[in-house]
Amino acid sequence: MDTETKDALEPFIDLALITEVLYTVKSGKEATVYACRAHPDSGYDFLAAKVYKHLRERSFRNDAAYQENRTQMYHNTRMRRAYENGSEFGIEVHFMLWVGQEWEHLNKLYKAGVYVPVPVKSAGRAILMEYYGGEDGPCPTLQQAKVPREQAPGLWKLLKSNIEMMLQADCVHGDLSPYNLLVDLDDPSDPLRVIDLPQAVDARFNPNARDMLEHDVTTCYRYFEKLGVRDNPARFTADLWRRWKRAEL
Ligand SMILES: Nc1ncnc2c1ncn2[C@@H]1O[C@H](COP(=O)(O)OP(=O)(O)OP(=O)(O)O)[C@@H](O)[C@H]1O
Ligand SMILES: [Mg+2]
Repeated sequence: MDTETKDALEPFIDLALITEVLYTVKSGKEATVYACRAHPDSGYDFLAAKVYKHLRERSFRNDAAYQENRTQMYHNTRMRRAYENGSEFGIEVHFMLWVGQEWEHLNKLYKAGVYVPVPVKSAGRAILMEYYGGEDGPCPTLQQAKVPREQAPGLWKLLKSNIEMMLQADCVHGDLSPYNLLVDLDDPSDPLRVIDLPQAVDARFNPNARDMLEHDVTTCYRYFEKLGVRDNPARFTADLWRRWKRAEL
């Protein structure tokens, strides 16, 4: 592990939340996730630490939905201009806002009952959360998992109820797909986690929220359709959106 990563995880060691880093779970586009041994007093066996990469190591996304959300992150136009002008100060502020967004969404959705990893602590560019997995390693993403056809309808139903709970909390994930869902097929009582939330948007303020919702639902449905599930993602989205607008969720 490089010294920068060590520095990023040090606060969690100092706070007696973790004792050591065990292995890298995955190095993604924006962050690296580590499996950590939890401190005995923390009440957990393992914890997951998501450490955002420094800007020079990563490329910020450039799609319209992300751009819109980026504009919303700023409460202060001077800071936004600093970022848009490419100043180092602006880039650093932008980076911290982005990490902070994931932490805020995680907390808000956890409180709303959505099946996200339990948020434990944030410090600088790192987030510590429940590790969804066990001794043998992390649970697979839905993309990697071999879901038996008979389990597909139940998982799809659970996912839809999670999407509904998110919207009830005025939140649309914005990047929901089989890559950002973890599943534990051996634990029918707790088979799902929704992860990767920095780009989530507030449905009350983001003009793209409805389109993003339909995109999330449709992307996930395509996976379940191949396993024999029959549903209508456009109708599900329309109905959900209507009930949310009428405050009926
Ligand atoms: N709480 C967790 N418990 C177990 N594994 C996790 C947890 N959070 C993330 N992971 C693993 O780390 C991977 C990357 O996490 P995440 O999607 O949040 O980061 P990312 O930088 O956006 O990665 P990507 O570019 O792959 O989307 C996930 O695909 C998953 O395998
Ligand atoms: Mg991801």
